[in-house]
Amino acid sequence: MNDILTSKFVEEMKKTAANMYRLGWDERNGGNISYLLNDSEVDGYLDLNEVIREIPIGFETKELAGKLFIVTGTGKYFKNVEEDPETNLGIVRIKEDGRTAQLLWGFKDGGRFTSEFPAHMMSHSARLKVDPKNRVIMHCHPTNMLAMNFVHELDEKKLTHTLWEMCTECIVVFPDGVGVLPWMLCGTNTIGEATANKMREFRLVVWSMHGIYGAGNSMDETFGLIETVEKAAQIYMLTAHLPRKNTIKD
Ligand code: 13P
Ligand code: ZN
Repeated sequence: MNDILTSKFVEEMKKTAANMYRLGWDERNGGNISYLLNDSEVDGYLDLNEVIREIPIGFETKELAGKLFIVTGTGKYFKNVEEDPETNLGIVRIKEDGRTAQLLWGFKDGGRFTSEFPAHMMSHSARLKVDPKNRVIMHCHPTNMLAMNFVHELDEKKLTHTLWEMCTECIVVFPDGVGVLPWMLCGTNTIGEATANKMREFRLVVWSMHGIYGAGNSMDETFGLIETVEKAAQIYMLTAHLPRKNTIKD
């Protein structure tokens, strides 16, 4: 068996968490990532017959049964993922009953997956129906996007339009725009269902006054989506209080 710490997927999780932390998107334990893994990717790194323990997931997702995910742990700090992936990350497989996660690696200190597991799993289901290649769901608390939530209307069309106006590339990167949920209690099945519902239409979903969700086919693509929105929000926050002299026309 190869050392799983040298696998591409653990490397990607480490690098992404470190970058997200460095950019200030994930203070303390803020944010979470889940990454759908193919059996062929884990082959040689993981014994699929060795279940460390089973963790109830608190909802039913039969359509994800048998699927493998590497996911960040609840209460774990993004800044620590790089130095100790085996404590801060875990690999789980959804059991046939759709109600149990089988831990195959990680969460070494007895931990469990993110409290946002409902939003992640329900979003994976929703995105896979639209795009069978979807693999990543990412949640974080980007500073400028959050700041913008307090001073800009939280209307989907208006927020999308303002973001598109801030950088020429925005409309190319997220032509589907951004979905917006009102402030809701996080870590619940209810916010999970609402997020997944938006994910049928959008790859970016703003959790008002909390953060953002992104979905994509790869870690780079998903990271890039959030990075582009955050850049647009930053330009908005740098200019919103100044007289506007120029604008990108519709
Ligand atoms: P977790 O530590 O459970 O992943 O929660 C962090 C977070 O961002 C909640 O929305
Ligand atoms: Zn959060």
